Amino acid sequence: MAKRISSYMPRPDTSADTAYYRQIYDRFRSAIAERVLKPGERIQSARALAKELGLARGTVETAYALLAAEGYIEARGQAGSVVSPGLKPEAAEVVPVRVVATDPLATSYRPDSILPFQMGLPALDAFPRKVWARLGARRARSMQPSDMMHPDVGGLPELRTQIAAYLRVSRGIDCAPGQVFVTSGYRQTIGLISQTLLKIGDKVWLENPGYPPSRAVFSQMGVDPVAVPVDRDGIVVSEGLRKAPDARAALVTPAHQSPLGVSLSLPRRHGLLDWAARNGAWIIEDDYDGEYRYVSRPLPALKSLDRDGRVLYAGTFSKMLFPSLRLAYLVVPESEVEKFARVVEILAGGSPALTQAIVGDFISEGHFARHIQRMRKLYAERREATVSGLKAALGDQVLIDQQPGGMHLILRLERRDDRHVVERMRKAGLYAEALSDWTFEGKETSALLVNFTNVASFSLAEGLGHRIAGLL
Ligand SMILES: Cc1ncc(COP(=O)(O)O)c(C=O)c1O
Repeated sequence: MAKRISSYMPRPDTSADTAYYRQIYDRFRSAIAERVLKPGERIQSARALAKELGLARGTVETAYALLAAEGYIEARGQAGSVVSPGLKPEAAEVVPVRVVATDPLATSYRPDSILPFQMGLPALDAFPRKVWARLGARRARSMQPSDMMHPDVGGLPELRTQIAAYLRVSRGIDCAPGQVFVTSGYRQTIGLISQTLLKIGDKVWLENPGYPPSRAVFSQMGVDPVAVPVDRDGIVVSEGLRKAPDARAALVTPAHQSPLGVSLSLPRRHGLLDWAARNGAWIIEDDYDGEYRYVSRPLPALKSLDRDGRVLYAGTFSKMLFPSLRLAYLVVPESEVEKFARVVEILAGGSPALTQAIVGDFISEGHFARHIQRMRKLYAERREATVSGLKAALGDQVLIDQQPGGMHLILRLERRDDRHVVERMRKAGLYAEALSDWTFEGKETSALLVNFTNVASFSLAEGLGHRIAGLL
């Protein structure tokens, strides 16, 4: 007999900030720790529990999947699930370790397991982990005492060389390895640029809507963000000129504007470069997903048109490999190399040498180029499957923007508050971000941002679409 759980599992608290699936997960852990549920004991099916609690089955399934992934319960096929027989109940004691984020701009929602539609993640199931493990083992085995000293704070020379070679071939950027600085992620890149080239009170154009952490990082550095609108051709340069002609920098996402997905047109690219050259201003190009274009070959980077040395190019391995690596890079104009080297020497602690060496091998042995090519094809398929699955389930309740590239979709909602829908989705164990939260004013045409890279099939997308439909 499966143990009925609902007796000590009250209905989820609708006023709590914690998602429903997470509340269920926490209660299971407490029940195991308090020995209400004992190792080996059978638990109710997700369907039965969902029915009793009045929740969507998927919400309970998400909680069960997390419990199983962490070893608290085991699935036994037809026989249902049991509390893991070898488990020591005290292992399930819930120790709150998370620091609560206070600035919603700075921290996007980061659940501790992968949720459907989670933004910012590449297809983690398709990463060549075996190759990675082989390269990692080889590097670890051959480690010498000299590899254990402090690494070069600007990045491992061999990785900087590989990045420069990749950028020349794939992004049309002509730079020497010495112009490449390895960082621990996009935020460190922006912080480094601010510390090296900007002063407190300087103005910087930011795309509106745009990636919220950019605004948070600049504000933290004392730099003054100026909202510049985006239309079908990307950032509206004439509006930037009108609002803050004296800005010291402009931050743009030319390949696929984040989040609208439009590409910066050639006239606007030249307009930006002219403005920067005339005013001695800087352009920061965030090329986080430039490789992922599905309608044509990837567009060359804006940096490839930079004749006057005004563009700082920011790339990251988070999308092309995976985000837990914490490796990104910045290409600085030749004239600024010394300044950056000085600041890096003082402020950057350097990135882990072993990880950098593995990434260097991954690139030099051709795995990187192959992986990107495979992902471009896979993402085109997953995007198509997600669009058709969601359309099949949601019909005309949402309108899906057709962007030329990127890793997420924009689902336009009519007359529904995007923040409200996002909150309901998160409580049900689904991820989405509200377009309104990506604007300076906090409002925009209501829309959901959903990543498609981890949605592996039409039927999965359709099922998820039905779950969204139940929450609208
Ligand atoms: C617009 C944009 N830029 C940059 C990044 C990369 O950030 P990081 O290198 O810190 O992982 C992301 C990741 O989500 C992004 O969406």
